Amino acid sequence: MSHGIAGDRLPEGDEKVRAVRGMFDSIAPRYDLLNRLMTFRLDVGWRRRAVAALAVRPGSRVADIACGTGDLCRELIRAGYRPVGCDLSLGMLRSAHTRTGLIQADALRLPLPGGSVTGMTCGFALRNLVDLDEFFRESARIVRPGGRIALLEVAEPSNDLLRRGHSLYFGHVVPRLGGLLSDADAYRYLPRSVAYLPPAERLLGMIRDSGFMAVEQRLLTAGLAQLITATRTRAKAGE
Ligand SMILES: C[S@@+](CC[C@H](N)C(=O)[O-])C[C@H]1O[C@@H](n2cnc3c(N)ncnc32)[C@H](O)[C@@H]1O
Repeated sequence: MSHGIAGDRLPEGDEKVRAVRGMFDSIAPRYDLLNRLMTFRLDVGWRRRAVAALAVRPGSRVADIACGTGDLCRELIRAGYRPVGCDLSLGMLRSAHTRTGLIQADALRLPLPGGSVTGMTCGFALRNLVDLDEFFRESARIVRPGGRIALLEVAEPSNDLLRRGHSLYFGHVVPRLGGLLSDADAYRYLPRSVAYLPPAERLLGMIRDSGFMAVEQRLLTAGLAQLITATRTRAKAGE
């Protein structure tokens, strides 16, 4: 199945939204299995790190944006938070196994009132969005001043040897694994979609400019993944 993601061209705009939704609808039933296999379960620890780094008051309302099958929601519940999950793909939401409330919504137009959550998480979805500036502005709208965000994304190891191994693994092994167990086009697209991510400095600058401070990036597991945390700035007079 191609969903408009086959070949070398990366879709943009509405075409990307449709392609991404179709792809996740189709890979949803085996999404968790493939995640565990292709990361050797490292993804479980990365999500735990993200929830620990959120560090807001226990019992706080936390929005998990692009929640997929609800892995981060489950970690948030375990940590004593009250999550609400939002995702574009009905297929992913239908495959979710979490007792939290889930909403089908686009991350760029969240059906959540301004300042209604103290925390926000978003796991491995930034590269799927069509406009990151808009997403960070939307994040700043829903997170109350003093609240925190924790974002996970894939990254590329800076070590030369590791980076070559990583590129071989994601360029060849992961698409084969995807082809055997799920959808080869999707698992070929996922590593290619890293090209949508702006360089780190620009990404962190976008978050800062949207109304966050203490913006920090940590590389996880020798740079296989990255965790970005930030605090919503207090509203200025007239804001
Ligand atoms: C790689 S999955 C990550 C899922 C989950 N956060 C996790 O940690 O496993 C990316 C998710 O982003 C969702 N997504 C993509 N574009 C979106 C958008 N514009 N709004 C909301 N969710 C979106 C997809 O449907 C998919 O569930």
